[in-house]
Amino acid sequence: MLSEKVKVSFILNGSPVEVEVPSHHTLLEVLRERLNLTGTKEGCGKGECGACTVLMNGEPVCSCMLMITQVEGAEILTIEGLGDLENPHPIQRAFMENGAIQCGFCTPGFIMTAYALLMKNPNPDRKQIKEALSGNICRCTGYMKIEEAVMNAAREVK
Ligand code: FES
Ligand code: FES
Repeated sequence: MLSEKVKVSFILNGSPVEVEVPSHHTLLEVLRERLNLTGTKEGCGKGECGACTVLMNGEPVCSCMLMITQVEGAEILTIEGLGDLENPHPIQRAFMENGAIQCGFCTPGFIMTAYALLMKNPNPDRKQIKEALSGNICRCTGYMKIEEAVMNAAREVK
């Protein structure tokens, strides 16, 4: 059955956007398929892996679990809003420099979660970093290097 289309307006990476999409679409689908922002990844699609993490009003959320209608009026920040290859954010740079990336599939989600942490707590200890990142799963790098990257980024972001 075709679901009705809805118009939804929100702020995406600092700019206003309006989309008209089927009402059952998730924020993740709209980001990737409608807005071509493919930095946000789809892993489990069930809120369990963190690959699809974006910030909504400053809080990390699983975009696969958010219906697009829930985003009306919100501020959404995706990995594309943080930086790019030419001008990486310090957290992105730290992940590259610390070897915290292998296949890279989980990386945008980890970086967005780390960004939310450092915005609230610019000086986290290892335990706080582990806790903050506990909803993000990496199948290849091992968490030690990722945690070290966040600690090193914290020194720069301060
Ligand atoms: S794809 Fe959203 S939590 Fe796994
Ligand atoms: S680097 Fe491959 S899943 Fe994390």
